[in-house]
Amino acid sequence: MGDAVLSDSKIVAAYRERTRGSERLAGEAKDLFPSGVTHDSRDLQPYGIYVTRAEGSHKWDVDGNEYIDYFGGHGALLLGHNHPKVLAAIHEALDHGTHFGANHALEIRWAQWVQQLIPSAQRVRFTSSGTEATLMAVRLARAWTGKSKIVRFKGHFHGWNDHMSSGFRSHFDGSPTAGVLRALAEKVVLLPPGDVDAVRNVLTTDNEIASVMLEPTGSVFSRVPVTPDFLTVLRDLTAQHGIVLIFDEVVTGFRVSPGGAQAFYGITPDVTTLAKVLAGGLPGAAVVGRKEILDALDFDVTKREGREKIQHQGTFNANPVSAAAGIAALEIVASTNACERANTSATMLRAKLNEVLEVEEVPWAAYGTFSAFHIFTNPKNRKVTPSTFDPLSHDFVELTTNPPGVVDKLRLAMLINGVDIAGFPGGTLSAAHTEEDILNTAGAFREALKMLKREGEL
Ligand SMILES: Cc1ncc(COP(=O)(O)O)c(C=O)c1O
Repeated sequence: MGDAVLSDSKIVAAYRERTRGSERLAGEAKDLFPSGVTHDSRDLQPYGIYVTRAEGSHKWDVDGNEYIDYFGGHGALLLGHNHPKVLAAIHEALDHGTHFGANHALEIRWAQWVQQLIPSAQRVRFTSSGTEATLMAVRLARAWTGKSKIVRFKGHFHGWNDHMSSGFRSHFDGSPTAGVLRALAEKVVLLPPGDVDAVRNVLTTDNEIASVMLEPTGSVFSRVPVTPDFLTVLRDLTAQHGIVLIFDEVVTGFRVSPGGAQAFYGITPDVTTLAKVLAGGLPGAAVVGRKEILDALDFDVTKREGREKIQHQGTFNANPVSAAAGIAALEIVASTNACERANTSATMLRAKLNEVLEVEEVPWAAYGTFSAFHIFTNPKNRKVTPSTFDPLSHDFVELTTNPPGVVDKLRLAMLINGVDIAGFPGGTLSAAHTEEDILNTAGAFREALKMLKREGEL
């Protein structure tokens, strides 16, 4: 939003009015952090809310405003904020110490849960973040195949390491983003999502492909969905060519089903990256997969086989507090219908949001799969019937582009009405979201749309 919009908008004025405390903190933050934020997705004009506490599906800001939360710890909180069993496990672990610089029993229990739930997890290596896990996944693929290139899909997000930066929001031609070496970007082959012919063509003509990597429910947790058939074809083609298939299940793992997308679809990749739900709301991630591929990290096997071992350190890998939270969370995921509850709530929310769009005659649509919801803001102003919107009939650029300015105003209007959504726009649901939350969210959405209409945005 430009300065003129910021000063003229009634939405912005109403937001400022109720978030004076957040505004004060944002004033301090702007001289500390680039753009005043610690994660790109927290960038909101004129400033984002500052939160003091959270519980279940709700959170409260420094001004005492309450919000229904659809950020859900960036997808980590399938069980909602402060699940009592996860909290108790964290407290107990804390009392024993936060870091032993040694092996400990909790890392074993944690990995056993991973192995029990995730079909591809013959071996497990913990890292501290999903970005580290995807970095290790491609290194493992290269070490295993002796080949250099990675096939990725435009719009799919895999964290911010150098291999993953082109082709998410920009640089769809594969050119390097700022600060990334051209030589490295050239080793990433970016293809249109869902394009079987393009994959087949690359795998048959380029001998240097080490792996094909994707988010198995599509870019940004189904914002640009891929079909299960696409996954089947990828599995067949990669197996045929001896190429490592990597599922990035950082979001979908333990969320779309206890065993992630791979268990849901019955398609087992060679390597999987995991994070978020894995660590119960604390930092933690893992790369898991076929034993012979992860053997590249094994001192004895590599020595015996005359292979070079991949080095891997990481101060906080499998730290006992994250391990304790992860064990508690995975136990709940395995033994309850938490995934199903979140999925069912999301289906209901998408339907309610579409009802609102139809009543308000706004040609947008709420869509998504599993526990995700996305709002299509119709940048090309097409005729759209919200309840029958099919994202597969639109390309990824259209699905990921929003008309200028409207998303920040939508987010502010939702915040004014007590709901925090992410900036795609959309969000994730947890098992803690209730029917009341969903109905209140639909009410807030209706109010927000009316506010946008009054400002001529719709
Ligand atoms: C699919 C996917 N992969 C990788 C990452 C990176 O994980 P992290 O933020 O833990 O580095 C994310 C983060 O949102 C993600 O959604």
